[in-house]
Amino acid sequence: MENKPPEQTLVLIKPDALKNSLTGYVLSLLSETHTGLRFAGAKIVHVHRMLAEQHYVEHRDRDFYAPLLDYIMGLAHYPDEPHKRRVIALVYSGPDAVQKIRDIVGPTNPHVAREKKPGCIRALGTIVTVHDAAGKVGERMDNLIHASAKPAEAEREIKLWFRPNDIPPAMRVYPVEASDAHYYFRDGRLLTTHEPGSLFLLAPGKVAWSSDLETLRLLARGQSAPCPLESVAAKYLINEQS
Ligand code: GTP
Ligand code: MG
Repeated sequence: MENKPPEQTLVLIKPDALKNSLTGYVLSLLSETHTGLRFAGAKIVHVHRMLAEQHYVEHRDRDFYAPLLDYIMGLAHYPDEPHKRRVIALVYSGPDAVQKIRDIVGPTNPHVAREKKPGCIRALGTIVTVHDAAGKVGERMDNLIHASAKPAEAEREIKLWFRPNDIPPAMRVYPVEASDAHYYFRDGRLLTTHEPGSLFLLAPGKVAWSSDLETLRLLARGQSAPCPLESVAAKYLINEQS
């Protein structure tokens, strides 16, 4: 029998799914019985702007970027109830995890999902007309769920949302190592000593994604890094501030 490498994927149950009480339904469709995949991580996340921006960085120049950030941050569905602004972030693990979940999720556009793939999760989504501050009309696709599109995207996204110790050691598929320095974050800057108002990221001995440590070490030496500081810091700021 072919031995496939372990594969993981990131799922986000978005604020519209929570608002419409579809969480249980979505989890049932993604259950181990249906997919053969196992949970490797799960958390309730109040999505802060830095995390939203990093998650959807590939869309930053698109006209739907601002409504997309409002959507994933819960501002669109809970404008007056900040305590309800949440997504459920999940890591699923197993053979062909990325494609298996994308198949159940369906096409990005809910209208297309209904037309082409009745029964998929996004067939229950909707498209909303939005207006920006200048009154310009746009669209927001409320499609209930995010799922990584490719294994490389899954790796970037899982490392963006989850720290290694959010995932049981035996289920981690990306390299980790212990930090050998202190790291803090303040106003977009990386610090190696504490300053008032700075946010703690890592201490010596704390396990981190190896790729994150590479980025932090380069940035601490004033060199350019393969990833922006925000892509490393965002996960350490999850649920730290309202
Ligand atoms: P995700 O799983 O959420 O990443 O969706 P996807 O991989 O199917 O699509 P993509 O990454 O291209 O887009 C991310 C999100 O941006 C989608 O889930 C939609 O909410 C939104 N989006 C994508 N394309 C469009 C578009 O053409 N118009 C609008 N209004 N929104 C879009
Ligand atoms: Mg995508």
